[in-house]
Amino acid sequence: MRLFGSHGSGEFQRSQFRRCGTNTVFETGVLVFHPGSISLGNNVYVGHYTILKGYHKNELVIGDDVWIGQQCFFHSAGGMSIGSRVGIGPGVRIITSYHREEGWHKPILASEIVFAPVSIGDDCDIGVNAVIMPGVTIGRGVQVGAGAVVTADVPDYGVAVGVPAKPVRQRPQIVS
Ligand SMILES: CC(C)(COP(=O)(O)OP(=O)(O)OC[C@H]1O[C@@H](n2cnc3c(N)ncnc32)[C@H](O)[C@@H]1OP(=O)(O)O)[C@@H](O)C(=O)NCCC(=O)NCCS
Repeated sequence: MRLFGSHGSGEFQRSQFRRCGTNTVFETGVLVFHPGSISLGNNVYVGHYTILKGYHKNELVIGDDVWIGQQCFFHSAGGMSIGSRVGIGPGVRIITSYHREEGWHKPILASEIVFAPVSIGDDCDIGVNAVIMPGVTIGRGVQVGAGAVVTADVPDYGVAVGVPAKPVRQRPQIVS
């Protein structure tokens, strides 16, 4: 019995996105799957070899003025929202689904898939190689340290570092 089918090449056209704003840059090697469930704002930069995986049941929404570094991997099966004026360092992984453990006697790959959205607020900076786990909400103005694994929500203006990520201090709020 065949278990896995190809997801396709990841080649895409701008017109296939649900929305693709103005001045968006896609560097060489960017792959996009299900672009019809992905909305990009204006002035979005997507770095070399980044993979954006949309999903037919949920949306990946990215705001305005967002910089996404090289070799990032976003899997939005559970839904993903990234605000405006966000910087995402190279190699960041954001995932939104996982297999629920249903007992030791069942192979993990045969167990139920749980979908859990990730939200990243405006004015955040996600450090290089950070991993954002399913179901996490990152507030406004948050700094995530390089290499962090974020397993729990981070409040507005928090600085979170480590594995698992823990808040180490608060940043000053933006005055607008
Ligand atoms: C999170 C970060 C902003 C913290 O900077 P900071 O506020 O100047 O903090 P400090 O360097 O004073 O460190 C505070 C504490 O957190 C620890 N820490 C800092 N960064 C850390 C990290 N990435 N992972 C684990 N611990 C870290 C420090 O060792 C220090 O611990 P201590 O108090 O026990 O000595 C910074 O270290 C960082 O990781 N920046 C990300 C840079 C990046 O990836 N840029 C992308 C470029 S495109």
